[in-house]
Amino acid sequence: MQTFTLPSAELDVPNVVLGLMRIAEKSDEEIRTLVHTARDAGITFLDHADIYGGTMHRCEERFAQALQLSPSEREQWIIQTKCGIVPDGPYFDFSYEHIIESVEGSLRALETDYLDILLLHRPDALVEPDEVARAFDELHAAGKVLHFGVSNHTPRQIDLLRASVDQPIVANQLQLSITHSPIITQGIAANMLGEQQAVTLDGGGVLDYCRLHGITVQAWSPFQAGFFDGVFLGSDKHPELNAVINRLAAQYEVTPEAIAVAWITRHPANIQVVLGTTTPQRVTDAAAGSDIRLTRPEWYELVRAAGWKVP
Ligand SMILES: NC(=O)c1ccc[n+]([C@@H]2O[C@H](COP(=O)([O-])OP(=O)(O)OC[C@H]3O[C@@H](n4cnc5c(N)ncnc54)[C@H](OP(=O)(O)O)[C@@H]3O)[C@@H](O)[C@H]2O)c1
Repeated sequence: MQTFTLPSAELDVPNVVLGLMRIAEKSDEEIRTLVHTARDAGITFLDHADIYGGTMHRCEERFAQALQLSPSEREQWIIQTKCGIVPDGPYFDFSYEHIIESVEGSLRALETDYLDILLLHRPDALVEPDEVARAFDELHAAGKVLHFGVSNHTPRQIDLLRASVDQPIVANQLQLSITHSPIITQGIAANMLGEQQAVTLDGGGVLDYCRLHGITVQAWSPFQAGFFDGVFLGSDKHPELNAVINRLAAQYEVTPEAIAVAWITRHPANIQVVLGTTTPQRVTDAAAGSDIRLTRPEWYELVRAAGWKVP
């Protein structure tokens, strides 16, 4: 497992993370096996959110119930969670009160005294950056949250927060897979009139912005073809892509999951891949991608096979 230091946090992290969005219906034993399999593969970083699991804090709670971490075991994990989405609507809420209430709920559900990282889940159009700053400062001073970040944010939205927030923004979690990759492929086709791929969907160069500002991009849904419409691996909607993935998997003696991960980790931005599978074997298989360094021709071949233009 490849690791690196989060630039703004001086925190050593693996470049593959286990997301726990889908564990609500799993048994204690299944959750333990999943998490321990991840740990055995070098994945010491867990991604939660207050909304995962159908009812608020459900997946956080199921994790804590299943793992029953002792204080020393707790310290071996980097636990990240998110706040700011109100499912009963839905709407977004970055108010001081909502952030504090959500964090208190996460601490209770996770049965821990502190969160390593808290992310603001999806941009709130009504955000008051001063309120976010006050909430972050209080949570940090109380030792309840060590580091802060965002998710699904554009460069300008981060700038707006940074104008008030003194706590470093350490991460921006964004949707990224070979097939859902506008944050990478837009730049490959920049300025091509009439080319859909050239359209800026991320507020303008979010990946480069994050690199420039020491903000680590975390790739969510690394195997999903689009927005929760099924995985591209093995899908007959992506024959050309799967042919290349399968050939590379055979060449590197790994599974296709590893190649999908390696395509993301090959990017020099030090992107963390957030796995969502609940199948232990897939965690092991995907984690193997961390140690594969695709060549430039292989990386671009995957881009072309996914249907992106490389002009
Ligand atoms: N920040 C955000 O807005 C945001 C949004 C969504 C998700 N997330 C985070 O990102 C994590 C990953 O999201 P995700 O679960 O959508 O991503 P994913 O890892 O791309 O997808 C995992 C899902 O695909 C299924 N799957 C089917 N075939 C698979 C294969 N060959 N390899 C791997 N999985 C396969 C898995 O089923 P099995 O479980 O049966 O293996 C699971 O349901 C979440 O857990 C969450 O932590 C963040």
